[in-house]
Amino acid sequence: MISNASDRRMFGKNALHCLGHLLRVCPAHSQLTPQERECLARCAANRSFAVEIGVYHGASTALIRQHLDPGGRIVGIDPHPAGRLGFSLERNVALREIARHPGAQFDLWRMTSNEAAARWDEAIDLLFIDGDHSWLGIEDDWTNWSRLVVPGGSAVLHDTQPKPGSAELDSVRFYREVIAHDSRFEFQESVETLTVLCRL
Ligand SMILES: C[S@@+](CC[C@H](N)C(=O)[O-])C[C@H]1O[C@@H](n2cnc3c(N)ncnc32)[C@H](O)[C@@H]1O
Repeated sequence: MISNASDRRMFGKNALHCLGHLLRVCPAHSQLTPQERECLARCAANRSFAVEIGVYHGASTALIRQHLDPGGRIVGIDPHPAGRLGFSLERNVALREIARHPGAQFDLWRMTSNEAAARWDEAIDLLFIDGDHSWLGIEDDWTNWSRLVVPGGSAVLHDTQPKPGSAELDSVRFYREVIAHDSRFEFQESVETLTVLCRL
């Protein structure tokens, strides 16, 4: 009962936000800080083919889209599960948010990153991982997608550096224990919880 009431409150809040976004009075939500956004925009500059895992409201997809080569393409992957009305408010916001920021071509693949990986074999020059932050989730993403990054291309990973005062996420531990030792990639920089690697 309590959880139904709190579900209803959450749904009402999300629906209101979606309406606010439609009316341009609410921004798309994102956990990226301004410094992380600035870093991601730099990583997207002069790149032509990006994959983003974890779209949510499309704020980072729109940012990448704006900074890629105008002739480039970004594919955002997110299952965007349907809510109680049978559709995803988050996907609705994301499609509008990305459309509001002209730039490279974009596609949103409504599926998990594992499902997308099973039908993907194209090389990419920017990989942004910000989906399932569990150990298994990021392990799958790293295994399936890092191999597709071309030499000189970038892999950018959100929530992979510790955040002072917050509990350590699996994604931070997986980065430190596994990705940081991956000899195919070289560390370039970290900005807050964002890590940037270059494919050798
Ligand atoms: C932190 S949000 C992404 C935020 C977005 N990158 C931004 O900065 O605005 C995480 C998103 O990952 C999605 N997600 C969770 N598991 C996923 C998976 N296995 N494959 C793709 N997306 C996933 C969730 O649906 C959610 O929308």
